[in-house]
Amino acid sequence: MKIWLTLIAFSLSVGLAQESGCISCHIELDEDLDDHEKIVDNYLGGVHAKNNLDCSDCHGGDPEAFDDEDEAMWDAESFRSDLTKIDQLEMCGSCHSNPNVMKQYTASIKTDQVDQYETSHHGIALENGNEKAATCTDCHGVHGILEIDHPKAPVYPFNIPITCSNCHSDESYMAHTDLPTDQYKKYESSVHGIALFENEDVGAPTCNDCHGNHGAAPPDIVHVKDICGTCHINNQDLFQTSHLQSMLLSEGFGQCEACHGNHDIAKPNDDMLDWSEGALCYDCHADGGNAKDMSNHFYSVITNLNSDIELATSMVHDAENKGMIVDELLFDLEEAHKVLIHTRTNIHSFNIDFVDSNAIAGFEAAQAAVTGAQQSLDEFDFRRKGLFYFSLIITFTVIVLGLKIKVMK
Ligand code: HEC
Ligand code: HEC
Ligand code: HEC
Ligand code: HEC
Ligand code: HEC
Ligand code: HEC
Ligand code: HEC
Ligand code: HEC
Ligand code: HEC
Repeated sequence: MKIWLTLIAFSLSVGLAQESGCISCHIELDEDLDDHEKIVDNYLGGVHAKNNLDCSDCHGGDPEAFDDEDEAMWDAESFRSDLTKIDQLEMCGSCHSNPNVMKQYTASIKTDQVDQYETSHHGIALENGNEKAATCTDCHGVHGILEIDHPKAPVYPFNIPITCSNCHSDESYMAHTDLPTDQYKKYESSVHGIALFENEDVGAPTCNDCHGNHGAAPPDIVHVKDICGTCHINNQDLFQTSHLQSMLLSEGFGQCEACHGNHDIAKPNDDMLDWSEGALCYDCHADGGNAKDMSNHFYSVITNLNSDIELATSMVHDAENKGMIVDELLFDLEEAHKVLIHTRTNIHSFNIDFVDSNAIAGFEAAQAAVTGAQQSLDEFDFRRKGLFYFSLIITFTVIVLGLKIKVMK
């Protein structure tokens, strides 16, 4: 640790950055060696160069030696080229874990990355000697490290799934574990993956939103299994009031993912509640009992409300097309629809009385729309008939008048 601190103190005091011997000599090396990563180019486009840091801030050596390799590197006691995964924790941490260093550059950056990392699956695996586990540069890159909100950063939301899947989708790389390698594939076609990739909705969770950046799970979340409720608050609040939550947990099914999965979350639909083979509840409760009654009950509440709303909608539109004023009825429809949406959420209480008592308002609103639409349609009929008789009378009068005039002539 001491070596890095002295090093930082030194480089901060000279503030060499782009004029260092390391850079001027290595620019030429990059050009000469075709198969060489363009290290300096990469470096100069990154966040560290922007903050006037130099190669020597990570590698040590003497940045003031311009022409002599030995002086610059090989003879310098502080020089390090083999920055292994374990070395990185200390090296990156020499700045990033040190508030006194970091506050010279920025007022706000966190300094807990290494501490958090050490509690993560990756950190623990590395500590136990598994060099395949991800460390700092596996997720951030080495020489071209970018600001985390740079669209090209490997940790930018849209890029994260690829960054993780570089290892996690590679069967041979992961062969030493019995972890599946299908997370990316599943995620890509899930509601969240579609929201992220197709709708560009950055509110949709990507890998690190559920698994954390550096820690095993984000702060305040005891376990990744508790994560869904941070965004789906209503489902979580209701589910927490149910007996089902503790039952599922104690049987090892987790929480939300017992029914929705984790990486392959599909768009939910009412058929999940339909009591038949392949449907959600049936598959775990094929022997029936309370679960069957509940599943059937929820299914019929939701599908009945849905068909009431469909009927009401078509009647209201019919009246509207006939030129009747339906503003109030549209309002009823909207209300019924809102209740339907809430009912699909309310089932997460797994409490029949609660679901029913809240669904009533929806049935009432749908009924009000049906009744109102029927009245409008009746009125339209009445007016149409009225108009018919009225024009009949007018025609008759005109004919009679015509005849009279003829007679008078
Ligand atoms: C006078 C030219 C010159 C200067 C100055 C110089 N280097 Fe090098 N550096 C080289 C050459 C040549 C190599 C070997 C190239 C190779 O084999 O890829 C090298 C290799 C390296 C390596 C890889 C070592 C390894 O074991 O593969 C690192 C890291 C490195 N330099 C960092 C630095 C840093 C940091 C500085 C400044 C303190 C610096 N260099 C200054 C020429 C220079
Ligand atoms: C933010 C810290 C950091 C800075 C700044 C940095 N490096 Fe590195 N460098 C590393 C790490 C970590 C490795 C080892 C990466 C690995 O093994 O994948 C490395 C590896 C290297 C290597 C060996 C590459 C190889 O393929 O074997 C060279 C050469 C090198 N750096 C040169 C430089 C030069 C020149 C600069 C300045 C332009 C520089 N580095 C700046 C962290 C840094
Ligand atoms: C498994 C991938 C992964 C590893 C390993 C990793 N990071 Fe990160 N890092 C991230 C992600 C993801 C973010 C946050 C991106 C965001 O918030 O948009 C991040 C953010 C950061 C930030 C910005 C400040 C912050 O905390 O949000 C710094 C600095 C950082 N990482 C440094 C490190 C260091 C140092 C290490 C090694 C101890 C490391 N990272 C290891 C993925 C990783
Ligand atoms: C000599 C000190 C120093 C070392 C060593 C260092 N960094 Fe940094 N790093 C900084 C500074 C300074 C910034 C810019 C902070 C800012 O402006 O927000 C930064 C920025 C970053 C960022 C972008 C953070 C953001 O908020 O966008 C990441 C990611 C990062 N460093 C990762 C690393 C990794 C990984 C290593 C080790 C391979 C490393 N750093 C080594 C000083 C250092
Ligand atoms: C450099 C390769 C690499 C990268 C990149 C990587 N991982 Fe890993 N990850 C591993 C390895 C290897 C393990 C297995 C460690 C072990 O042996 O326990 C692992 C383990 C995990 C585990 C623990 C699985 C379990 O239940 O044991 C999770 C969760 C995880 N990674 C998530 C992520 C996420 C999320 C990202 C991206 C932000 C990511 N990883 C990036 C290599 C990687
Ligand atoms: C919506 C939240 C969420 C997202 C997004 C997510 N995961 Fe997971 N992941 C989970 C949950 C929950 C588990 C199960 C944890 C447990 O049972 O301990 C899990 C388990 C894992 C595991 C352990 C092995 C397994 O498959 O069960 C790995 C590795 C993993 N995820 C990697 C990833 C990667 C890589 C991504 C991005 C492509 C990702 N996860 C996206 C929630 C998520
Ligand atoms: C970071 C916030 C976030 C986290 C964490 C999260 N989600 Fe989501 N989820 C969203 C967003 C945003 C959407 C909306 C996608 C869309 O429809 O465009 C969504 C959509 C869904 C949907 C589809 C809803 C619908 O009506 O189509 C389900 C089901 C779902 N998430 C379940 C889960 C589960 C289960 C977890 C935990 C394993 C979880 N979510 C974690 C933000 C999150
Ligand atoms: C016992 C099974 C089960 C559990 C546990 C469960 N859900 Fe659901 N969830 C369902 C069913 C069934 C539907 C579909 C309802 C419908 O569309 O008729 C659904 C629908 C949803 C929807 C879309 C409807 C809405 O509310 O917007 C979201 C989002 C959702 N669940 C999130 C969650 C979250 C978050 C958790 C954990 C707190 C969770 N679910 C736990 C069975 C479950
Ligand atoms: C992943 C498997 C799984 C799924 C899917 C599932 N359950 Fe369960 N359920 C369980 C477990 C485990 C228990 C607790 C042990 C038991 O009673 O069988 C339980 C218990 C129940 C109970 C309490 C049982 C009682 O006799 O009082 C009800 C009610 C219930 N579930 C309803 C449902 C409904 C409704 C659905 C569909 C929305 C559903 N479950 C989906 C696994 C599941």
